[in-house]
Amino acid sequence: MLTHSRFSHIGSYAADAVTVLTMHLEAGSEAPAATGQRDEYVLTKDWPGEHERLCLLEETVDALSITALRAAGLSPGSRCLEIGAGSGSIASWLAREAGDPTLVTATDIDTRLLGPLADAGIQVLQHNVVTDGFPAGSFDIIHIRAVLEHITHREHVLDRISSWLAPGGCLVVVDCASFPLTSSHNLIFRTAIEAYIDMVALTGTDYEWARSFPEPLQRQGFRDIGVTAMVPTVQGGTPFAKFWSLTLEAVRRRLLNAKLIGNEEIDRAQHLLADPEFFDLGPGFLAAWGHRPH
Ligand SMILES: C[S@@+](CC[C@H](N)C(=O)[O-])C[C@H]1O[C@@H](n2cnc3c(N)ncnc32)[C@H](O)[C@@H]1O
Repeated sequence: MLTHSRFSHIGSYAADAVTVLTMHLEAGSEAPAATGQRDEYVLTKDWPGEHERLCLLEETVDALSITALRAAGLSPGSRCLEIGAGSGSIASWLAREAGDPTLVTATDIDTRLLGPLADAGIQVLQHNVVTDGFPAGSFDIIHIRAVLEHITHREHVLDRISSWLAPGGCLVVVDCASFPLTSSHNLIFRTAIEAYIDMVALTGTDYEWARSFPEPLQRQGFRDIGVTAMVPTVQGGTPFAKFWSLTLEAVRRRLLNAKLIGNEEIDRAQHLLADPEFFDLGPGFLAAWGHRPH
């Protein structure tokens, strides 16, 4: 089982964020000319902070996914698929709930963080949700979080994913929605996160798509649909603030190359994100679920 305990050093991380991660950048961990091409997934696991970043995401959003998965009706014996499993916490949770790790398949285009899942008996597959398939009706429940937002032809991919569900099976989709940012009074924070959103939009990422939930599932003909949302508070130094701090550092060079923001503005945002006196609302998350008709 993956736990967050091995990241107990994170608490001391935020104050050193700029120094530590600028060192990574200067060590050449990111191609200097890159801005981002259409359909490119830019937050790759080549970046040294990516495992930590994904664990912070899990710490923030797993509760929402678990609420949605429970509402969707996950039961022991369900055949589960976790798409774009990242660092693997939800796949591990599914294995416990299903009662048998061999019932769970965890996919990602880059499975290098999923070794512990394979050791635990979960089937780990290098698999691109855009181009690779599964036989029709293979799963009773599919969870996909923070993946479709990054995929240009997401509605087409949703169509493919739906076919992998058995009749009556359930799909749970969770994605990030930027809407709380538009009411932020803090221009430093807002400018930095919006620069990130604009940069990844160049690659096809859409942080507004989730705001339309559950329409994509309604269009697919799903039944017994539900939807819920969370808007996490960003307080400097907390896990969600650290998640955004790492996200900005992961793409600092790309942000500069795209001329969406300057180095000093990113530094100012980093200091805010490390300051416990700073509070704001971060981008939100929406979860939608529904059952494939029989
Ligand atoms: C933002 S991370 C989210 C990880 C995890 N789902 C979570 O929410 O904790 C996106 C993950 O999707 C994976 N990914 C990106 N494009 C993918 C694709 N076309 N097929 C499968 N996985 C993909 C990435 O490698 C990464 O692990």
